[in-house]
Amino acid sequence: MKKSLLLLSALLLLSASASAEEIGGAHAGMDFSCADCHQTDTPEKSPTTKNCLECHDSYEALAKATAPEHIDPEDKESAANPHDSHMGPIDCFNCHKTHSPSELVCAECHSFEFEPK
Ligand code: HEC
Ligand code: HEC
Ligand code: HEC
Ligand code: HEC
Repeated sequence: MKKSLLLLSALLLLSASASAEEIGGAHAGMDFSCADCHQTDTPEKSPTTKNCLECHDSYEALAKATAPEHIDPEDKESAANPHDSHMGPIDCFNCHKTHSPSELVCAECHSFEFEPK
């Protein structure tokens, strides 16, 4: 009885840490270490935009890469760019997640066709 309880709590501990540490999203299978994004091997909070931009150039360059190709003058929303909007340069993790599925914060109010990886 005692032994199986110990085993159970060990398993629970293991699954709790595995869910926080699994590297999914855009960088799945790329052999990243925690410090690549978090600057530390024992992270406690989410990496900031600054951490992501160590490898990803700049918000301006991202905005260029995701600029809409066709803008309809009748439809203001057709000019929507996930990296350049009235929300400003918000932290990347608002949309691009690593340990849970990514989500588009804009979707709270709009329905756009683009989805973050
Ligand atoms: C590719 C970049 C990246 C790597 C590598 C990475 N993380 Fe993260 N981490 C994130 C992002 C983005 C978030 C924001 C929340 C999310 O992704 O779900 C985060 C959030 C966290 C948080 C905070 C969770 C919270 O509730 O605020 C912890 C703790 C964490 N990561 C631990 C780790 C550990 C441990 C490793 C190494 C095994 C690791 N991370 C590797 C990007 C990364
Ligand atoms: C250590 C360098 C490094 C860091 C730090 C890093 N990335 Fe990446 N990221 C890469 C590489 C390499 C790729 C794969 C090649 C590419 O697509 O540019 C990639 C791919 C991506 C992609 C997919 C790009 C595509 O073309 O579909 C997204 C989105 C992304 N990263 C977002 C982030 C976010 C958000 C953070 C911060 C949490 C972050 N990255 C931190 C190196 C990094
Ligand atoms: C509002 C949500 C949102 C935020 C915040 C955001 N992204 Fe993105 N990102 C997206 C979406 C959506 C796409 C896919 C666009 C598409 O498919 O046209 C994307 C695409 C990308 C790509 C691929 C670009 C390419 O060449 O096609 C990279 C790299 C990337 N994001 C990195 C980042 C980094 C780094 C940050 C923070 C500086 C960031 N993103 C902030 C939503 C976001
Ligand atoms: C909390 C709600 C909310 C969120 C989240 C939100 N928006 Fe908006 N957005 C609005 C409102 C309200 C308007 C004004 C609507 C109007 O003028 O008819 C607007 C207008 C726009 C427009 C029309 C042009 C303009 O600037 O007036 C674009 C494009 C747009 N948003 C893009 C985005 C993008 C991209 C995101 C995510 C990065 C986003 N929005 C997130 C509420 C939101």
